[in-house]
Amino acid sequence: MCGIAGYVGPQSAVPIVFDQLRRLEYRGYDSAGIAFPQGDRIGILKRAGKLSGLGEMLAQETPESHVAIAHSRWATHGAPNDLNAHPHYDQFGQIALIHNGIIENYLELKTELAREGDTFQSETDTEVAAHVIGRLHAQGLSLEEAVRQSLAKFRGAYAFVVLSAREPGTIVCARNASPLVLGFGEGENLLASDVPALIPWTRRVWTMPDDTVAVLTKDGIRVTDVNGRPVEAEPEEVTWDVAAAEKGGYEHFMIKEIHEQPLVARQCLAGRLTDDNRVALDGVFSDHVWQEIDRVNIIGCGTAYHAGLMGKHLFERMLRLPTDVFYSSEFRYGDPLLSDRSLAVFISQSGETADSLAALRLCQQRRIRTLGIVNVVGSAIARECDRVIYTQAGPEISVASTKAYTAQCLVLLQLGMTIAQHREMPGVRVEEVVRDLRQWPERVVEALGLEEQVKRIANEWADSRMAFFLGRNADAAVALEGALKLKEIAYIPTQEGPAGELKHGPLALVEEGVLAVFGATDPFVREKLASNVKEVQARGGRALIITTHDDDTMDGVGDEVLRIPGGKTPYLNALMSVVPLQLLAYYMARAKNLEIDMPRNLAKSVTVE
Ligand code: G6P
Repeated sequence: MCGIAGYVGPQSAVPIVFDQLRRLEYRGYDSAGIAFPQGDRIGILKRAGKLSGLGEMLAQETPESHVAIAHSRWATHGAPNDLNAHPHYDQFGQIALIHNGIIENYLELKTELAREGDTFQSETDTEVAAHVIGRLHAQGLSLEEAVRQSLAKFRGAYAFVVLSAREPGTIVCARNASPLVLGFGEGENLLASDVPALIPWTRRVWTMPDDTVAVLTKDGIRVTDVNGRPVEAEPEEVTWDVAAAEKGGYEHFMIKEIHEQPLVARQCLAGRLTDDNRVALDGVFSDHVWQEIDRVNIIGCGTAYHAGLMGKHLFERMLRLPTDVFYSSEFRYGDPLLSDRSLAVFISQSGETADSLAALRLCQQRRIRTLGIVNVVGSAIARECDRVIYTQAGPEISVASTKAYTAQCLVLLQLGMTIAQHREMPGVRVEEVVRDLRQWPERVVEALGLEEQVKRIANEWADSRMAFFLGRNADAAVALEGALKLKEIAYIPTQEGPAGELKHGPLALVEEGVLAVFGATDPFVREKLASNVKEVQARGGRALIITTHDDDTMDGVGDEVLRIPGGKTPYLNALMSVVPLQLLAYYMARAKNLEIDMPRNLAKSVTVE
């Protein structure tokens, strides 16, 4: 999810790639850098912080070059500081590499290289990749061949862009899963992670397919597959304006981010699942801590709190580990009962939410162990927790959170499996869950295939006066998140929670023009849920049911039924149902012609109490 830029042509390249980065700046990157051929070496300028820091360096002296690559970092490995900023040199200082994505096996590769005498300046996976490519290049392979042959050694999602001092007129790039777009100019060529960084220079663009390598010179772009066979590039003319381009051609950031979820899920799992189907989280507590914990307290606000509810369901149902979930604002003023052996888990996308931070400091005063599940690397909550697991969801811009929520829930499942691995838990089938987790990203792609159906339903029902979101067990937790999305962006009042509670009050609100959405992914309580559907319909309400693909018992029960792909892990099935719920909220808000990314009265990051 980093920003990538590159230029080769007759113009002065450094100001161009800097300008390319500026066009991606709205995502709030944490460091930036540039590489360019300079005599018989590659020069690198880089700096932590906002892009303006790098701008100041360039203002003092802009290097003259007709080739340059640039990167703005959204940290995943290592803190956002000068050393970890890209580009990175190889061992011999002959090549410079920038990278988007995660190399899952970088620690293994690093150990191997260190054994051969390599030393590293940073904590990044990127520098390890630079060393791997650099060694092959030093053995005499062309830069293109060195990149191609090194790809077989990397596991994970990546987009690489490389310069070599030996081939100063060339940029080589490669892609697997992380975005990389080529820009075809007249006598000049460009590349970028996203279209907005290309359109001022060329509108002829082409997204590189997975497992391809491209060589850019001023005269042309040549693309090949990993075996060196030619691949024909088919540039298209983009007609988007700058605003549309920032959203990847989508109308809003929210829908773009909903669609990013398969890639986010991949990144969130990257390097954390082992070949023998176990979970290996980096840098968490040592073994005895997992055995000691007697209780978990999960703390967060908004969507993060809802992810916490999923955590409670998981830890109690699967691990039989008592778990409470608190709103940060309630926790900090609530004089909570905390046992010495408890673990406090702080969930936060931004890592800066004032109430969550205050609750964290309270736990520290009480000497309770703290663990952060955070998206923004180096944020206050990430820094202050004893340990942190990053969600690796990339920058989220829409105020209504989507991809951060699914990533938080995936991390909670990985955390749960980590605990299960350290305690005697014969009932928990870690291998089965991990196998399901691996398939999750592909299943999200399938769930996104419901988009047209959801859009039709949303258009037909956008005039709903009120909406109920109901479910049982984990579906009840997801219901809260579905309701939050709808009220945040479509301004429709909602009532949400366990379906069994319907007749204890909320049913009084059901009448004509009311919509009720039922999560029915849990087969054990489906029959009960079907009676709740009838209760709503009998009073004039319309019912939408979300169930798994293998269930036909709901056919004809609801007014509409959406089938999502399911697996063996009920938690993951319930989580999948959030995808159509996000789409429903989005398309209902769109049908009402509302401002979606910045809903009235709300902010993305709440740093006031
Ligand atoms: C705000 C945002 C929500 C978010 C909540 C917690 O209310 O609008 O989308 O869930 O803050 O933010 P955090 O960054 O701590 O997850």
